[in-house]
Amino acid sequence: MANKNLNKAKETKNDEFYTQYSDIQKEIEAYLEYNPDIFRGKVVYCNCDDPFESNFFRYFVLNFNKLGLKQLITTSYKSSPVANTQLQLFGDDKTLTKVKGRPKITANKFIINEVRDIDEDGEFNLKDVAKQLKANKHNEWTPLEGDGDFRSDESINLLKQSDIVVTNPPFSLFREFIKQLIAYDKKFLIIGNMNAITYKEVFPLLKENKVWLGNNYKVNAGAMFFEIPEKIANLEQIREVKINESGKKVYITRVQGVRWFTNLDHGRRHQPLPLMTKAEVVKFATKKPFEKYDNYNAIEVSLVKNIPSDYDGVMGVPMSIFDKYSPEQFEILGSDYNVREGLLPKLVNLKWIGKLDRGYVNNKRLYTRILIKHKKK
Ligand SMILES: C[S@@+](CC[C@H](N)C(=O)[O-])C[C@H]1O[C@@H](n2cnc3c(N)ncnc32)[C@H](O)[C@@H]1O
Repeated sequence: MANKNLNKAKETKNDEFYTQYSDIQKEIEAYLEYNPDIFRGKVVYCNCDDPFESNFFRYFVLNFNKLGLKQLITTSYKSSPVANTQLQLFGDDKTLTKVKGRPKITANKFIINEVRDIDEDGEFNLKDVAKQLKANKHNEWTPLEGDGDFRSDESINLLKQSDIVVTNPPFSLFREFIKQLIAYDKKFLIIGNMNAITYKEVFPLLKENKVWLGNNYKVNAGAMFFEIPEKIANLEQIREVKINESGKKVYITRVQGVRWFTNLDHGRRHQPLPLMTKAEVVKFATKKPFEKYDNYNAIEVSLVKNIPSDYDGVMGVPMSIFDKYSPEQFEILGSDYNVREGLLPKLVNLKWIGKLDRGYVNNKRLYTRILIKHKKK
């Protein structure tokens, strides 16, 4: 059912899965653990985020001072079905609609430079931000001229001013989204589907260690739970109805195979995977391990945990290697995709040219494989 949900999101370009606060917090903590100053003095841009809905906005506002942010920029998308429909930031404040220059349904730009306890109730919170936004002091809330598309000139100008992009972009536009971040040489932490690994826009970046997966893949066995706004939730998608951290009723859906993609460093990627020797794997294996491929000059390793510590040649492993990959331990040579494009002629058994879509063992076609080697010490 979960995959069906994602496919449906792809088909309809629905793309309206909202990230939970706790998932954002958990992931960011891993980067802070590795480098407590990672966000210090930085401009963070959330460019697919309606501040009234987005927990990214909420997280960065509430942790603005703790992280030492210089600025937080958030832009919303006009065509979003929830655009400006839920002014939870401002509660039931009736004065808002009267404020000149702030049309109700449009894309908005929020620039936060300061988060302090302006109502002096003893804590920094969203209410303080709302008050500052309304008064237009230090912080800024203005409508965008365009629709807030991340590819628009307006959004690109904001991107140029920022250091780190953190968001969950629309699934259907992931390729374009990551391509743009690379083109503008930005640091980022974004959510995408695991399948994006094989995209030709993404795989070379992983291979060259310019992009890697985030820290929290073990949570929920690689799935993530998202909030869907009541307005667009359908019964088939809903796993749970709950009250979220900001006291709002939300519908929860589960999406399989979701990962964080990033170029911010974290500790897990520098921990080598503990491995057995070839002989140990053979001893414990239920079926014959390490068969040679028919079409690649490599051996098949069907489980990442069975990668032998003492094999020097090329090994084909499942895509989940990226969850455990350490650049100090392995070298990534290619994937089925690269082989098919003829980028790795040395790895290909020439007799099989024309049938290189996937690895084959005894004429049996396998799932996507990543071709790796141990890094030379
Ligand atoms: C998967 S949702 C995630 C929303 C939010 N970032 C979060 O994680 O809670 C993707 C968001 O991107 C918005 N969006 C869709 N197309 C967009 C575009 N071309 N430019 C900017 N935002 C877009 C959608 O309206 C939606 O709110």
